[in-house]
Amino acid sequence: MLSTTIKTGARHSALRTAAVPAAAARAFSIWGNVPKGPPAILGITEAFKADSNEKKINLGVGAYRDDAGKPYVLPSVREAEKRVIENKMNKEYAGITGVPEFPSAAAKLAYGNDSPVLDKIAVTQTISGTGALRIGGEWLKRWYSGDKVIRIPTPSWANHKAIFQDSGLTVEPYRYYNKDTIGLDFDGMVADLKAAPPGSVFLFHACAHNPTGVDPSPAQWKELSRVCLEMSHLPFFDMAYQGFASGDSDADAFAVRQFIRDGHKILLSQSFAKNMGLYGERAGVFSIVGEDAEEAKRIDSQLKIIIRPMYSNPPIHGARIASQILNDPKLYTQWQGEVKGMADRIITMRKLLREKLEALGSKHDWSHITSQIGMFAYTGLKPEEVEKITKNYSVYFTKDGRISVSGITSKNVDHLAEAIFQVKG
Ligand SMILES: Cc1ncc(COP(=O)(O)O)c(C=O)c1O
Repeated sequence: MLSTTIKTGARHSALRTAAVPAAAARAFSIWGNVPKGPPAILGITEAFKADSNEKKINLGVGAYRDDAGKPYVLPSVREAEKRVIENKMNKEYAGITGVPEFPSAAAKLAYGNDSPVLDKIAVTQTISGTGALRIGGEWLKRWYSGDKVIRIPTPSWANHKAIFQDSGLTVEPYRYYNKDTIGLDFDGMVADLKAAPPGSVFLFHACAHNPTGVDPSPAQWKELSRVCLEMSHLPFFDMAYQGFASGDSDADAFAVRQFIRDGHKILLSQSFAKNMGLYGERAGVFSIVGEDAEEAKRIDSQLKIIIRPMYSNPPIHGARIASQILNDPKLYTQWQGEVKGMADRIITMRKLLREKLEALGSKHDWSHITSQIGMFAYTGLKPEEVEKITKNYSVYFTKDGRISVSGITSKNVDHLAEAIFQVKG
């Protein structure tokens, strides 16, 4: 503390002196102790951009691309946005919990239109899925009477750990993915659920697990729900891909609704980044199921107390778009068709990639490419194989072998299959 004071004082007097040699000024830098962070996933896109190979492919992007490899704005979103603009709405602040018609409609989408818990939930708009998880983490730290520990799958979306740590929680792993089968380590998962202290918080990806694309089957979800009940665990669902996984919003909400049917009081994060393509609009929702309406009101009041000093209230534009879509039956039906269109394109690309690899004569079992679901596929390729594919074929993806299937198109799939085949055989 003393040395900081002296240094700061010295710096101020140095600043008052007109001609300070650059080296001396640097020696007193306030942020001199700040180390450079490690290279992030963004490194892939930068390397991709710098590559002059015409056949280059970027499979590191976390957003949907159409079959021409271009970002896609859903026609239903364009229409909803047109209506929002035509309505000449004002730009006043939303309330702390957002544009009211949005979170209430989002909750119906997740829990089901006639869910018995709709009047027992506290629900708030959030700054997309990331914001929902952050509010959830903050909620647990402040109000959960059990251990301030959250258990996340291995692997999980890279941001989960940081979000929950920054919320003040301890993050522990549970088994999820089996490298050998390139599938679910269901027994390991159940064993870890049973080994955790009763009342532990477990984070589940509701559908389209990121990064593996490996989801439990409905029967496995039922068993997981049963074990969680037996252990009095608290389930926290992250639903970032509803509709995007299978093309059917109800089917993708299976796990959430099964846990509700079984009586769990879940926490739920929802994102509209992927299923509405509202990435940059930051439209998300967080909800907590209470015992009854009175408890939900108490929870709601405390959520507001958490949110208010963080960002006062959320952005309105994306929420208005999402709300138009969710609350207008015709637009809703159109949107559902468009989500299915995106999901179907991804499923088709998975099939095509597998077929091409098999047609090239690959001796490997590629069935996991088509059995996995959602935007991401775990290829099972090793880091050194990924490196070779990138170096020799200009196909860019993360070292863990994860590819973003939405980066595959009917035009580039041949080059991709060839690259994988040449390296993997
Ligand atoms: C599993 C998972 N959860 C949450 C998110 C949150 O995304 P956003 O903050 O853009 O809604 C993502 C985005 O990639 C994700 O993959």
